This record gives sequence, C-alpha cells and structure tokens, in this order.
Amino acid sequence: MGLTNLKELLSEADKGGYAVGAFNAVNMESVQATLAAAEAERAPLILQITETTIGQPGKPTYTGLEELMAMAKVLVEKATVPVAIHLDHGRTFASCKRCIDAGFTSVMIDGSLKIDGKTVESIDENIRKTKEIVEYARSQSQYVSVEGEIGSLGEISDSMSNAEKREMLTQPKDAKRFAMETSVDAVAIAFGTKHGPYKGKAVFELTVIESVNSVIDTPLVMHGGTGIPSNTVREAIKLGINKINIDTQIRMAFEKSLREVLASKTNDYMASLERAIEEGDELPVPKYDIRKILDPARKAMVEAIRAKMQLFGCSGKA
Ligand code: G3H
Ligand code: ZN
Repeated sequence: MGLTNLKELLSEADKGGYAVGAFNAVNMESVQATLAAAEAERAPLILQITETTIGQPGKPTYTGLEELMAMAKVLVEKATVPVAIHLDHGRTFASCKRCIDAGFTSVMIDGSLKIDGKTVESIDENIRKTKEIVEYARSQSQYVSVEGEIGSLGEISDSMSNAEKREMLTQPKDAKRFAMETSVDAVAIAFGTKHGPYKGKAVFELTVIESVNSVIDTPLVMHGGTGIPSNTVREAIKLGINKINIDTQIRMAFEKSLREVLASKTNDYMASLERAIEEGDELPVPKYDIRKILDPARKAMVEAIRAKMQLFGCSGKA
C-alpha cells in the first residue's frame, strides 16, 4: 500500500472510531521499528520526524533530513500498510517547505507558539502562518496534508484558576475560526496533555475534545501521548481524537533495553572473569558488537509501538 497522507488516514479513522498512531523517529533503528510495528499490527502508520531532529539545511541536529528521508522512503515503498511521512512541530514556513519539497506527505506547522517555542502566538498570526503553509501544500501535484495547532500544550492542575486554564485550553470558537480560515486537514488541540512525563497529578479536560469536535469536522490530534492512562486515551478517542503522537514512550523503551543489555553484558563478563581467576584459566577477552546492543533495543521499540497501536484501535485497520 505504501505512501499516503494524513487526510486519507484520518478520514478512515474518523469513520472507524479509532486513532492512528504518530510515532517519532530519529535514526535508522526507530524508522525500522515504526514500520515493523505497523506491519506486525496491520495498522496504518504516521511516521513523524521533528524539526528539532533534522535541524536546518546543512546543520542537522541528529540525523539529516536527506538520510532519514532516504531510509523512510525505502521502507515505505516496501510497506504493505498505508504510511504518511509527517513533519512534527514544524516552526517555520521554510522548515515545512523543505520537508514538502523532500517528499513528506504531511507537515505540522505549529503556529500556536512564537518562534521561541514557548511564547503563545496570537490566533491571527497563527492563522496567517498556517494558511501560508496550506497554500504551498495545496500547490503541490501530490496532496500534502497540513496539521495546525490551536491552544497551548501543557500540564493543567486543579490549583489553577479557571482563567489560567482557559488561557491554555483550546476554545471551541477559536478552533472553529482556525479550521474554517486555514482549511487544515487536522487540528492539534490542548486539553491538558504535554510532551514527556508529567510532574504533578495529570488533569485532562476531556470536555474540550467533545466541544471542539461538535463545532468542527476536521480530525483532532492529541500531542503528548506518553504517560496518559489507557482509559483516558480510550475516552479521548471516543470523543473525537483521531491522531495520537507518541515520542517519549519509544525513547523510554529504547533506553530501558540498552541499560538491561549492558548490565547483563557486564554481569556475564564479571562472572566469567571470576571463574577464570578461580580456575587459573586464561582471562576472558571482552567482546564488542553494536548489533548485539541495538537489536534488542530496536525490538523493544517495536513492542512499545505495537502496544500503543492496539490501545488506539488502529491495529488491523490497514
Ligand atoms: O509531537 C510529539 C508528541 O507530542 C510527543 O509526546 O513525548 O509525550 O509522547 P510524548
Ligand atoms: Zn507534540
């Protein structure tokens, strides 16, 4: 089936009442793991890459756009499930354009924040920036989807005043104006989720999903998918979330596996060293093999992603 875009994937998800997982990849192993998980689960897939990973032209932060895209293209061409290649948290027109020109089938322009990635942007400026990308995307021969964001991601707590919460949470009337004036294919909304682990007791305003979903038809996106209780995820999907972003969970699975593999390697070596000393044998020579460390970590990422696909209800939907 291979390459598709967000609009195709999310309209199916909306009809089917499930969410498509969007999983961040930073290198060969994580690109391979996302595709392997989707094949194993027979699930549609959004393979996403952040601007912070590919950095700027000639100055990649980790893996360059060209290398990542080359790996993704080869694997997506062989895929038997539908896959969108998506820029996650694009901050500028230049970034989104660069990825569209490189063959991405979908981009997110995160116009909810100013370029510093922290200060809340005005809705007028958010709409202007988002429309600019939508126009460029629609000028392409192949359909390129655009995801926009309205509202500010971030933890809310019961100690916050209603005014403070209102400041962060997506307002239905803003979402309606945003969706109408930009005609994006997906809208990321804020209802208390944040990137990465939560500091305090996480509070989610699920009524925001319901009220936004009642005023716009555009599929809704949940960012900050790690660390949300499964029941809350299921409820959010029922209320209208059709795309869920996962990054930290994949990193956690990778790092946990590395630690376990390296610890057991050290234990095995120490045990054989002690045995050799006791028996007066030749001392063991430590062995080094990148594949023996990264392969289990890649498998751990596959399992973490498969579990999320099952939770989102997109398993078996390819
Ligand atoms: O855009 C990526 C996601 O929002 C990542 O969120 O790290 O909490 O899974 P997460
Ligand atoms: Zn995000």
